[in-house]
Amino acid sequence: MHIHDTIAGLRGARGRSGRVALVPTMGNLHEGHIALMKQARETADTVIATIFVNRLQFRPGEDFEKYPRTFEDDCEKLATHVDHLFAPTEAEMYPQPQTYQIEPPPAQAGILDGEFRPGHFRGVATVVMKLFQIVQPDVALFGKKDYQQLMVIRNMVREFNVAVEIIGGETVRAADGLALSSRNGYLSAAERAEAPNLFRILTKVIEAVRAGSRELTMLEQRAMAELQARGWIPDYVALRKKLDLQLPSAHDSGLVVLAAARLGSTRLIDNLEV
Ligand code: PAF
Repeated sequence: MHIHDTIAGLRGARGRSGRVALVPTMGNLHEGHIALMKQARETADTVIATIFVNRLQFRPGEDFEKYPRTFEDDCEKLATHVDHLFAPTEAEMYPQPQTYQIEPPPAQAGILDGEFRPGHFRGVATVVMKLFQIVQPDVALFGKKDYQQLMVIRNMVREFNVAVEIIGGETVRAADGLALSSRNGYLSAAERAEAPNLFRILTKVIEAVRAGSRELTMLEQRAMAELQARGWIPDYVALRKKLDLQLPSAHDSGLVVLAAARLGSTRLIDNLEV
């Protein structure tokens, strides 16, 4: 694995032949990331991972400063899976303030997580577009755990005619169901024991929908109430259309249940497709 911290270095080494896959990350890698690297290897000749904690997608007061930076460990985990790692400094990515930014439409980026983290998807879209320009991949992979992020990126790519195929990787879970996330490391032992209940509660919601329930609002409210009763502070539990995350009508069938909730000071997100 070759490690690059400059755009020029990465571009010089990238090569022009064969299919190139990009897996953007913010580091602190876990099995979910590694699954994406493996999936990338199956579809491309060259696999390029990036590690960059992108200040633009964090709001003031969020965890930008304390976001775990574990570069040495990450390199060890990546070594056998990728050909190149691009890990730029902030000065390399943003040598001057990023005055041009990608503003996803509020209907996609102002709902759900975007409602609770205003500007978050602007920061994500902007850095992902920059990474696409820098790496020029043929295909890019993103985890489905960040379901709304994946939708925003797919739509951005479509509307800007970006020649990158987008692949969503399945969420990887711990044996008890908790979706793997870099933020799980913030949980205390007691919170870690409680955390899989988010998955369990969402599973109950999709089982009810699969069994034919169309009382979607009631299912959302019941899940929120159960989380609250267990000591969580939920931002939302929402049943939406898979394709665009808009409110489903009575006969829509392709649904996904998404949730974000705080356990102590840690905000977890998860989703399950029906
Ligand atoms: O999902 C993430 O880790 C980040 O949002 C991404 C896509 C690497 C952009 O910073």
